[in-house]
Amino acid sequence: MIYGHFAEHLGRCIYEGFWVGEDSPIPNTRGIRNDVVEALRKIKVPVLRWPGGCFADEYHWKDGVGPRAQRPARINTHWGGVIENNHFGTHEFMDLCEQLGAEPYIAGNVGSGTPQEMMEWIEYMTSDANSTLANWRRQNGRQAPWRLRYFGIGNENWGCGGNMTPEYYSDLFRQYNTYVKNYSGNRIYRIACGPNGGDYRWTEVLMQRVGRRMDGLSLHHYTIPTGNWGRKGSATQFGEDQYHGALRRALEMDTLIRRHSEIMDRYDPEKRVGLIVDEWGIWTDVEPGTNPGFLYQQNSMRDALIAGLTLNIFNRHCERVRMANIAQTVNVLQAMILTDKERMILTPTYHVFEMYTVHHDATLLPTDLECADYVYQDHRIPGLNVSASRNAEGVIHVSLCNLHPDQPASLTAELRGARPSRVQGRLLTAHSVQAHNTFDRPDRVRPVPFHEARLTENGFAVTLPPRSVVVLALQ
Ligand code: AHR
Repeated sequence: MIYGHFAEHLGRCIYEGFWVGEDSPIPNTRGIRNDVVEALRKIKVPVLRWPGGCFADEYHWKDGVGPRAQRPARINTHWGGVIENNHFGTHEFMDLCEQLGAEPYIAGNVGSGTPQEMMEWIEYMTSDANSTLANWRRQNGRQAPWRLRYFGIGNENWGCGGNMTPEYYSDLFRQYNTYVKNYSGNRIYRIACGPNGGDYRWTEVLMQRVGRRMDGLSLHHYTIPTGNWGRKGSATQFGEDQYHGALRRALEMDTLIRRHSEIMDRYDPEKRVGLIVDEWGIWTDVEPGTNPGFLYQQNSMRDALIAGLTLNIFNRHCERVRMANIAQTVNVLQAMILTDKERMILTPTYHVFEMYTVHHDATLLPTDLECADYVYQDHRIPGLNVSASRNAEGVIHVSLCNLHPDQPASLTAELRGARPSRVQGRLLTAHSVQAHNTFDRPDRVRPVPFHEARLTENGFAVTLPPRSVVVLALQ
């Protein structure tokens, strides 16, 4: 679930990105774009989080079921003040998950909803009973209940989800969670709203007061290239200061996970409660001329490196990090896919997710890396980044990022307990860290076979090009 995704009613993620409606000339299945589904199936999306984000704590699920023409129009107050026509609701989302082969992860409304509303939504989706709510679902076209494993009790309740203190939210979690029922054999994994980045007190209070009542605690961390939310920096027009700054801030994920885990370990040494990083990614200024409330940004080779290093961090912490969801899947923030009417392009980040599918469901292999730092002015970060796993067939995969923008890196690796007879590789790089795909040049950044790795007596040796993500297969 570390390779999970997030789709919010924000800008052109749901509408245009996924949903075009059944009458659209854009090829679709029951209103959902075929090209987007097909591309996402290739990266094996394991789980999709919806409907928000901040939108979740304003969303009232009954608005989004029943005949579309009769669904109410609401104002999306968080994201551009646009009209939300509710044409994409529970049935459409569950259909999308089924088309993708992904587990649904629904974020419930604590900020402006009620425990009754939350309880009824879960009954509507998951109950097989002859009850009014389950029958309403049947009437709306779905006979069998859906399987719903992941449910979030609120989102960012320290901010857009109600501006609560951890003490107050803990009490509300206990209240709302009481009404999150397991119907008809469905078992829900309950995810509590966790800290904003380095708010360690939030984690301490939640572990103390909610503890065994939750299965997962969320963590949100966005990479702002400048470190300044007012002027985040451009997605494609940046110098080395914002390149190094973005990587540095993305690498903070490791510290955040370690420090939150240390607190969690004190209350939960068996690591039963998962740390669920259900929003992460680079957040830049929007593309010039686009609606500032839509968070539409381009995606460059820098984004690919951020994806590569962050997924390596999650892999290395998979004992505690059970799920992560990059923000967001289509047309918003660090997207996999950008669309322009009937056209669609894959971003460099998409390609990293595709290259890393080899790690899905594999077993982590510990790695110990020594490398030179990449130094910019007074700042230094390790120049390389790695994780490794072994899959069910015994193939070892090593994913490596060379973060240096213009220097290659030679690496010799000692492999303990394995003697592979063959090494193959794939490479993602580009002529610059600003390089990105456009609707006119959709393949400027894409993976290619990589031949610069060779086996040695006790492992392998490789030369990594500058600004590159490499995945090696050893068997
Ligand atoms: O992903 C965009 C927004 O970032 C989400 O709605 C919110 O949860 C976070 O602040």
